[in-house]
Amino acid sequence: MSPQKFQGKVAVITGSSRGIGKAIALELARNGAHIVLNGRNQAWLIETENEIRKIHDHVVSVCCDVSTIHGGQLLISEAINSFSKIDILVNNVGVSMRGNVADLNPEVFKTVFESNVLGAVNPTIPALKHLRNTKGSIIFISSLAGIRGLPGLSAYCSSKMALRALAETIRIEEAKHKLHVGLVFVGFTKNENNKESIAADGSKIILEPRTGRGVQTLEAVAAAVVRNISKRKFVTVLTALGKLNAFIQPRFPFLVEWLILRNLKKFEERSR
Ligand SMILES: NC(=O)c1ccc[n+]([C@@H]2O[C@H](COP(=O)([O-])OP(=O)(O)OC[C@H]3O[C@@H](n4cnc5c(N)ncnc54)[C@H](OP(=O)(O)O)[C@@H]3O)[C@@H](O)[C@H]2O)c1
Repeated sequence: MSPQKFQGKVAVITGSSRGIGKAIALELARNGAHIVLNGRNQAWLIETENEIRKIHDHVVSVCCDVSTIHGGQLLISEAINSFSKIDILVNNVGVSMRGNVADLNPEVFKTVFESNVLGAVNPTIPALKHLRNTKGSIIFISSLAGIRGLPGLSAYCSSKMALRALAETIRIEEAKHKLHVGLVFVGFTKNENNKESIAADGSKIILEPRTGRGVQTLEAVAAAVVRNISKRKFVTVLTALGKLNAFIQPRFPFLVEWLILRNLKKFEERSR
């Protein structure tokens, strides 16, 4: 990709102080985009902002919680105050959970939907009129867990499936404004240290680092997201396992279910 590809474009990336969002912000910055970072922890934001400043100075941070209506509005209005336009919005914020439905504190569903669904809706609504002006891109970061319901991940799968509905709707509603909508199904990715998830009782848990075959680096995921934006693709599915699942699931859902049931133990270990 040419280094000039995103020269002068303004990219807002939710949840970009760490993890995949940070990697996307760095990749877009390396390709010339002006960057609006977001997260709730000011210290992580400052650290990431300093990393972007090693590439260029066109970066601002907005410390807010996009799972709230106010947070979504603040992020978009600060982006406009700083750079006067928005070309790219990446809805990356998301949290996972663990636990079978029978064992879940219902609050888990609420927290996951607030983060993963409202966390995308809240910045998207105020951003749309600005993205129309630039015929820009709006990207939703989904997961292979958004392709079919998986054991122990009910709220996470449901929230990521909801993003597909949102993306499909916006594609049709905004077609006349020539908006690009991207939906990226991310596979197993290396975690940041101390990455958090939510246990069945609603408490926070720290995930173990992910290793092994089929685990992608943050940089590989970011490169795929940036390619999706550059090519204005709708759906991008990552990893060989993800592509296979996306192909088989709509055609032979019972086969996928049978495979999961047969490998339940391995599957549960993998999703830890
Ligand atoms: N990692 C994987 O293996 C994987 C696989 C498939 C899909 N995904 C998806 O990829 C996305 C990123 O995941 P990740 O692993 O990079 O997560 P992560 O390491 O936990 O990072 C999450 C980022 O979002 C910020 N954040 C969280 N909630 C926020 C909120 N309400 N408002 C503003 N910022 C918030 C966090 O900073 P603060 O906590 O300071 O706010 C942090 O910068 C998620 O949508 C996830 O579902 C990840």
